[in-house]
Amino acid sequence: MKKLIFPKDFLWGAATASYQIEGAWREDGRGESIWDRFSHIPGKINDGSNGDIACDHYHLYPQDIQLMKYLGIKAYRFSIAWPRIFPEGRGRYNPKGIEFYKKLTDMLIQNNIKPVATLFHWDLPQKLQDIGGWANREVADYFEEYAGYVFRELGDRVPIWITLNEPSVYSFVGHSEGRHAPGIADYSTALLVAHNLLLGHGKAVRLYREMGLKGEIGLSLNMTPMYPASENEADRAAALRADGSWNRWFCDPVFKGEYPRDILEWYSSRVTLPEIAEEDLELISVPVDFLGLNNYFASRIRHDETKWPLNTSDSFIGEYRTAIGWGINPDCFYDLLKRLGRDYPGVKIYITENGCACNDQINRDGEVLDDNRVDYLFKHIRSVHLALQEGVNIGGYFVWSLLDNFEWAEGYSKRFGIVYVDYPTQRRIIKKSGYWYKDVIGDNGFEVKE
Ligand code: FCB
Repeated sequence: MKKLIFPKDFLWGAATASYQIEGAWREDGRGESIWDRFSHIPGKINDGSNGDIACDHYHLYPQDIQLMKYLGIKAYRFSIAWPRIFPEGRGRYNPKGIEFYKKLTDMLIQNNIKPVATLFHWDLPQKLQDIGGWANREVADYFEEYAGYVFRELGDRVPIWITLNEPSVYSFVGHSEGRHAPGIADYSTALLVAHNLLLGHGKAVRLYREMGLKGEIGLSLNMTPMYPASENEADRAAALRADGSWNRWFCDPVFKGEYPRDILEWYSSRVTLPEIAEEDLELISVPVDFLGLNNYFASRIRHDETKWPLNTSDSFIGEYRTAIGWGINPDCFYDLLKRLGRDYPGVKIYITENGCACNDQINRDGEVLDDNRVDYLFKHIRSVHLALQEGVNIGGYFVWSLLDNFEWAEGYSKRFGIVYVDYPTQRRIIKKSGYWYKDVIGDNGFEVKE
């Protein structure tokens, strides 16, 4: 046996998002979000559900904080629901909205848990969608206004801020595939949305600095390592395109102040690119304190003429699949960490999401023995340790998720929590993975067989 020990101040965390857990969708003056609208359209969510109640965290947060305290969680990543703060997205703010996050963060701090707040985890106020959503450049200004208000109210108590969660998923799954809110299917719109999101990010970071706040600020990107399906030239070029359009398209503007040239060129004859002013890139690349990395799987990429506009098709890498069908490959996760260390040198990384869906069941003894999740977490956290040892600057790891929750288009059918939620009663049951994670945090590491 060998023990893997993590750095002394390594931030062990758990993550959630407002729409996925809060419920209370019409309480205390909260406005409508695009996910309220979308999930209420029949056929959009696989199990016909919505986030009206979700985990009822809006009411049960004291109990959820006690759970985190018991598990030894050092940092809690949650998101703020913009429509609670500005019910119409701009103009009139709702003091009751911010009150909830004040109570939440106060209680976290009292319990020695660091609040890590995401400003935008996809629940855009519907009123802003009515004027075009993020495809409208003005929305980046409204985002800045919202960010400024939240920074003023919570800036003293939140030490780590994440402007955006996964702009790639929000842009492409929501605006090109149409599987997520707002349910638009137009590739050029997705690119416009992506650009305006990044602008909003830059504006929020600039404002945070101007306000002289002393915490850290960055953004969370969903990054998937892309490997060619074969050694042939066409597949290798396809893998570069998949990587460029999904990973570098977001990372490069922020960390290098430029969009990847190969992809700009590829797109130029195929789609309408947004207008990209030089000042935009200056703003987007305002220095951040960290890169938040969300990763769930790796993809194998093949050249495919039938797929517009990238001419790529993908499949999962890994012999085993999680309950949502995603392939499992912790070695690719390690590769990704190494690659980020190499391509974006000096950038501190927080792994802001990683985890898996399992077919969890309560057994006759009332326990949830999710061995597959323990295995997934074990292997992925081992990859983190390896990358750390080889010099990659990783400040923390946040498991997705603290609780089973509303998994977007999948509804409640996919469970990602280290804590089980029995939705009819709202009872929480710590899963085996939760107890395992508690031990890892307590020991600041774990034993592996050599
Ligand atoms: C990510 C999302 C998160 C959760 C996980 C499973 O893409 O950021 O909200 O749904 O996937």
